[in-house]
Amino acid sequence: ETGYVTLDQGFVNTASCSSTITYIDGDAGILRYRGYPIDQLAERSTFLEVSYLLIHDALPTPAELAEFADKIRVHTLLQEEMRQFFGGFPRDAHPMAVLSSAVTALSTFYQDALDPNDPEQVEISGIRLMAKLPTIAAYAYKKSIGHPLPYPDNSLDYVQNFLRMTFGLPTVQYDVDPTLAKVLDMLFILHADHEQNCSTSTVRLVGSSGANLYSSVAAGVNALSGPLHGGANSAVLEMLEQIRVDGGDVDAFVRRVKAKEKGVKLMGFGHRVYKNYDPRAAIVKKAAQDVLSTMAKPDPLLEIAFKLEEIALADDYFVSRKLYPNVDFYTGLIYKAMGFPTKMFTVLFALGRLPGWIAQWREMVNDPANKIGRPRQLYTGSPEREFVPIDKR
Ligand code: SDX
Repeated sequence: ETGYVTLDQGFVNTASCSSTITYIDGDAGILRYRGYPIDQLAERSTFLEVSYLLIHDALPTPAELAEFADKIRVHTLLQEEMRQFFGGFPRDAHPMAVLSSAVTALSTFYQDALDPNDPEQVEISGIRLMAKLPTIAAYAYKKSIGHPLPYPDNSLDYVQNFLRMTFGLPTVQYDVDPTLAKVLDMLFILHADHEQNCSTSTVRLVGSSGANLYSSVAAGVNALSGPLHGGANSAVLEMLEQIRVDGGDVDAFVRRVKAKEKGVKLMGFGHRVYKNYDPRAAIVKKAAQDVLSTMAKPDPLLEIAFKLEEIALADDYFVSRKLYPNVDFYTGLIYKAMGFPTKMFTVLFALGRLPGWIAQWREMVNDPANKIGRPRQLYTGSPEREFVPIDKR
């Protein structure tokens, strides 16, 4: 009941909070959002429906889903002054830095609706974030390639609107590929929440000070950008590309990982909680095979990824450390096939994770006893010491 679980490896594993949103059994490889198994949601639901489920703890009726989608649709535009914002970044700015800056800036446009203790202001803040993050993400990409910033097209659905803003141009007709839109919608579902991971804990911790939802989510975006967390999907592609450039010798790469060469990790493998195959990775692997099999020119990186997985799952070094593919191992291959540059992969992770951040922040705000608040530490520094004036040192 104190939240302390075990004293393990010299530090204390603690449950930072209780939550009703996502359940993970890391040993069994189970993931459920509000009780619904992830494979059922990935196969049978849509990202907006899952977003509603995470935020409201119920699958929406058709009318509720339509109202939710309509509320989001009418907020996809950014304030015109905010479009100028993107002109201030260098073209090679990392899109995650642009994303977190822009999300923080959103709060400056809605200063009359930031109060975490006002349910209506909380509701509209979540809707505005769901509506505007795809627009911001698309602008971050357009900025990086010097293209004009498009306006949303609200005749399209959520993911199609994002794809058209990202890849469309005012000079040519751009028709969204519905198959790719459906795959991206499913990938967003797989990323939508994952209990108290680094970025979600950050959102809850920042929100526990009374900070507004935009500021809390901006902090989560920054936490997600790290290569050991959301940045891993980009790092996997860089790893596969390096293996290809080095001649494709997967065995040689695995030897370097096992030798613990500095900075050489099997990115996309391992997990703080899953000590079994990440159930999301299995779904993404199948989607990667489906998407990449339709490509005119097969991607050699997919074969390298398959070979890496095959070798690692048969090698005691990885098996004994319970290292299995995680959600990031195959996603990058799909994003690359869709035309996204590697730098945008973690932005896609953030778009998927947004409803989870919103749901977790709301749960924390609504349950004062359940705040991460102020974690304690095990002090291992010096005992008390007498101050020595500098002329005596
Ligand atoms: C995400 O928490 C979440 O839910 C996150 C996430 C989400 O949805 O929010 O699931 C998303 O962040 C997935 C993880 C993406 N990160 C990566 O793929 C980066 C590569 N993975 C590792 O850095 C690592 O596996 C972690 C950080 C993810 C987890 O590390 P652990 O399980 O806490 O284990 P550890 O770091 O203590 O390592 C245990 C052993 C060590 O070897 P020994 O010291 O025992 O000899 O396993 C080794 C590590 O060196 N190890 C790896 C490895 N991961 C751990 N060795 C090679 N390659 C790896 N990837």
